[in-house]
Amino acid sequence: MVAARIVLLPGDGIGPEVVAQGERVLAAVAKRFGHEFEFDTRTIGGRAIDETGEPLPANTLEACRESRAILLGAVGGPQWDDPSAGTRPEQGLLQLRKELELFANLRPITAHSQLVDASPLKREIVEGVDILFVRELTGGIYFGDSGRRDGAGGEAAYSEMVYQVAEVERVVRLAGEAARQRDGRLTSVDKANVLEVSRLWRQVAERVVREEFADLEYEVVLVDAMAMHLISRPRDFDVVVTGNMFGDILTDEGSMLPGSLGLLPSASIGGWSGAGLYEPIHGSAPDLAGQDVANPLATVLAAAMLLRYSLALDEEAAAVETAVNEVLDLGHRTADIAVGGPSVGTEAMGDLVVKQIG
Ligand code: NAD
Ligand code: IPM
Ligand code: MN
Repeated sequence: MVAARIVLLPGDGIGPEVVAQGERVLAAVAKRFGHEFEFDTRTIGGRAIDETGEPLPANTLEACRESRAILLGAVGGPQWDDPSAGTRPEQGLLQLRKELELFANLRPITAHSQLVDASPLKREIVEGVDILFVRELTGGIYFGDSGRRDGAGGEAAYSEMVYQVAEVERVVRLAGEAARQRDGRLTSVDKANVLEVSRLWRQVAERVVREEFADLEYEVVLVDAMAMHLISRPRDFDVVVTGNMFGDILTDEGSMLPGSLGLLPSASIGGWSGAGLYEPIHGSAPDLAGQDVANPLATVLAAAMLLRYSLALDEEAAAVETAVNEVLDLGHRTADIAVGGPSVGTEAMGDLVVKQIG
């Protein structure tokens, strides 16, 4: 029996709707397998700014530090998008990742065979896709120096992309370990033909692989080409490791392989065990909020990753993934993957998964 306190951070937009389904699924797992999960719901993002003036209130961070795992929906929305605003919802999430040292963001991209027609890409390209992106999460351009200054052409702004050797080493090592557990292939993505920061990344990645992962098949791809290869030959990739911004962009693109952003979960971890932050890769989808139409499966699959990585409950994680597959096998679809056919709402999709868990 595992007793665990799990912090829920519903956030903004569709965040609360999808996290509610993730919570129900975790509760169903606790019931079926005899665990005790205590849920502690806290504020983050735009809602937190409205209530407290800060996107990551101190008591939210404190609760996260003391928990075994965190399940987050999404932050942000048009009402907090004023470029001149002093604080932004997204800062809360970035600060949380940084404070908890969650340097690796695992983003699996798996094409579910029942959903191949939901992808805008051809069946022969999508079928069998199974990629694990390992996105560096606490460095790079997201955390470099930034600001405004005077330029010859008027006001200028800058955001610095910096990587230290140790930051590259640890994320490449984690990706190498993941590749060893999978198909033994590792791809590092950079822009070393132009950026100095990428040349350091490439040198360090190659050294780590040579010294510690000589058993892996290793390939280096430039990020612009990767954007193309990802949709022309996605099956050639197993584990892909890359920097913070490149990983952010490529995985939203990659979501079109399974067919929807609403299907992709992620785990932000600082190692293979310990506390982690679990979230769908999508945002707050303001266009869908409050309508009970968002796909909750990305969040449900993130809850499965939470069970696997932070609670070491492999069987329970697999039970959630199996339940999702069975629900899809039965033909149930939310609107984003219904390809014009009949669809169920967010809560009904949660009901179906909960029922399947038993
Ligand atoms: P988004 O990911 O919210 O939405 C992009 C598109 O995907 C929209 O058309 C949306 O309807 C669709 N979509 C997203 N999630 C879906 C789901 N579960 N089911 C069905 N369709 C889904 O990106 P955006 O619109 O560019 O950003 C909106 C806000 O979200 C911004 O403020 C952004 O900063 C924020 N954001 C937050 C996170 C996060 O909290 N991790 C991630 C990305 C974006
Ligand atoms: C994501 C999001 C975040 C990011 C934003 C909301 C800070 O796009 O989790 O992919 O860019 O990391
Ligand atoms: Mn993103």
